[in-house]
Amino acid sequence: MPTNFAYREGRLHCEGVAVESLVAEHGTPLYAYSRRSIVDRLGALDRAFEPLDRLIAYSVKANGNLSILRLLAGEGCGADIVSGGELYRALKAGVRPDRIVFSGVGKTATELDAALNAGILCFNVESEGELRLLAERGRKLGRTAPVSLRINPDIESPTPHAYTRTGHRATKFGIPSEDAPALYRLASELDGVDPVGIDAHIGSQIVEPGPYRQSLLHLLDLVEGLRRQGIELRTLDLGGGFGVAYDAESDPEPSAFADAVVPHLVTSGLRLILEPGRYVVGHAGVLLTRVLYVKRSGGKIFVITDAGMNDLLRPSHYSSYHRVDPARRVEGRGSGRVDVVGPICESGDFLALDREMPVPEPGEVLAIHTTGAYGFSMASTYNARPRPAEVLVEGDRARLIRRREDYEDLVRGEEDLLIE
Ligand code: LLP
Repeated sequence: MPTNFAYREGRLHCEGVAVESLVAEHGTPLYAYSRRSIVDRLGALDRAFEPLDRLIAYSVKANGNLSILRLLAGEGCGADIVSGGELYRALKAGVRPDRIVFSGVGKTATELDAALNAGILCFNVESEGELRLLAERGRKLGRTAPVSLRINPDIESPTPHAYTRTGHRATKFGIPSEDAPALYRLASELDGVDPVGIDAHIGSQIVEPGPYRQSLLHLLDLVEGLRRQGIELRTLDLGGGFGVAYDAESDPEPSAFADAVVPHLVTSGLRLILEPGRYVVGHAGVLLTRVLYVKRSGGKIFVITDAGMNDLLRPSHYSSYHRVDPARRVEGRGSGRVDVVGPICESGDFLALDREMPVPEPGEVLAIHTTGAYGFSMASTYNARPRPAEVLVEGDRARLIRRREDYEDLVRGEEDLLIE
């Protein structure tokens, strides 16, 4: 079980608070996060790279709640953003603009303008078209955009699902290495942009350090080639993707990643940027859900919960595994192989399949673990289901950091054209 979640007298606690009491106050489905987990994991990752001049730019897409961003900003974190909305969130939460990097293949002119006006640290540019547009917008606004080119290092990274593999050739991500020198030359000639760094992101949920070493060496080769051409870069961004243990296996140690990286960078004079999302917040969160019904059908046991794929998309979208625990242990409870499923009208609506576990009874609360990353942030209102509330636990105190949506929220902004 992730640290900061433990049973005390048969009741599952998040830090010092029984999750049942969170549910009693805030209802279900509910995301609950451990503050200590977030701070500890960020600290461990940062310390592992201590020998280097470095910036941790937390990947906002993993969990963009304002309170969590503010907590991370307070710890000195920057932000890796992929949209104008994430820029808005990061700035609102007090992330310093000079610690923000802007990733993504499809930035619009409006988004580029907003980031230029904010004075962010770096634009991770993914195509010639984007570079030209950014230069044009920079000139128009009388600003010079600091640029890294995101390189596609053509690495088959070992991620658990094809959807989170981004470092190989045939993806939409990055610029082929062979095109990089010409684009850097263009970037150094164009007014409105200034090439300052190099960037790669090879995928997500990577638990081995090898692919990072490979990616780094590839980037360093390019940096060296550019230096010979008189283009001197200052930053190297290795992206995010550091994996966490969803099942019983143990988490990769940050030192394992650092050992693959630090020796090659320590004398380079380059500043390292990392964009972790999941590693920082994944283990910090549980999704708490109430069992509505237990139904035996077609030789199977279905545990039907009040959380569905709209609240937690990962199992359905990536066939991902999340540990499921009862909020309260019941002695002598019979075990069975169950599907934990949601209320949504889709067969793909499940939280866990074929799981051997104590068969719960209606009314009981379950905790779906390691849902702090890409849990709430991927939630939707599909089936007109308001999105869950979020609470942040610190010691024996819990604070609501996002109220549960209501039906009014669901229709806000819609026009009922036929009303008269
Ligand atoms: N930097 C870039 C450019 C990225 O595209 C991503 C994730 C990250 C950093 C952060 O990756 P992390 O450290 O969190 O692995 N929704 C999926 C993951 C997709 C991630 C997309 N990009 C999931 O639930 O597993």
